[in-house]
Amino acid sequence: CFKEMELSQERRDFISSLPIEKSWTTRGYLHNYQGFWFLTMGMQGVLAFQKHFQAHDTDVLLTSSPKAGTTWSKAMLFALLNRVRHPSPQGHPLVTNNPHTLVLTMELTLYYRNQVPDLTFFPTPRLFATHLPYAVLPASAKDSACKIVYVCRNPKDTFVSLWLFVNRAWSTRSIIGSLDEAFDMFARGVSPFGPYWDHVLGYWKKSQENPQKVLFLKYEDMKKQPTSNLRRLADFVGCPFSPEEEAKGIVNDISTLCSFDNLKNQEVNKNGKGMFSEANEAYFRRGEIGDCVNYLTEEMIEKLDRITDEKFHGSGLKF
Ligand code: A3P
Repeated sequence: CFKEMELSQERRDFISSLPIEKSWTTRGYLHNYQGFWFLTMGMQGVLAFQKHFQAHDTDVLLTSSPKAGTTWSKAMLFALLNRVRHPSPQGHPLVTNNPHTLVLTMELTLYYRNQVPDLTFFPTPRLFATHLPYAVLPASAKDSACKIVYVCRNPKDTFVSLWLFVNRAWSTRSIIGSLDEAFDMFARGVSPFGPYWDHVLGYWKKSQENPQKVLFLKYEDMKKQPTSNLRRLADFVGCPFSPEEEAKGIVNDISTLCSFDNLKNQEVNKNGKGMFSEANEAYFRRGEIGDCVNYLTEEMIEKLDRITDEKFHGSGLKF
């Protein structure tokens, strides 16, 4: 499973020593590291990011499970933090760039090949993203005053969205396995950066203990009330909207700029490709709450609801 990877023998031996499962999102494998599952191709980046990243107190780190609303949240945070430099939707970087190229996911880009990247050219406040669970984050991300925004989505839509994404993003690849097989693995907790429930709970608990450190947002709330959640986001990262900006309608402008329909219809997102040759259009599929009913059986829905109730019992977290 190390084919085409530039890994030292020591790294290979270490990864080989970890519990392993076949992946349902790619043709490779998942390895259990510190209680979470990571793809072989991503392990190098996870270890390098965890070891080498030095957070600044002013950094903003967007965290999420895959398919929980990462692309949307990247767009919103980028637009919020850069609104002085890019005040107008006309010619805005989000019109010509996919949000994933404007806000990099650390383990999948900068640290992907075990390099220690030069981060000095990033303007302050630096904005980065990661799918790492809270427990696995680099120590400095946890210990510094950097702000962590966590975006979460109900497990049924998250699973369906990921399943459809991996079968759509690479049109030349055939389907990896059956939906039933993928579902059983997800329900057992075996999914990239999963178990899903442990991922959510790690950030949820931290957001309860220290709400200044971790802002916990739900995709469903953002869909229902995009502008009030944009304001929450702006307040949390330390760039609240001024009364003048409110009067000028900047909150609505950013909400519209980052909306599903607007981003999906940009040329770069219709026909562009990402760094893994994935079709950008796969990041903008349907963007609805509850689409899982079109793909999961009643038994599957009941099963995920039951697991979610059990896992979140007593935590105060509900969907
Ligand atoms: P669906 O597959 O349900 O359509 P991620 O960005 O974490 O990869 O998540 C992708 C999911 O977010 C997809 O869900 C996608 O359609 C949805 N999405 C992408 N951009 C969005 C936006 N601007 N607003 C709402 N949902 C969005």
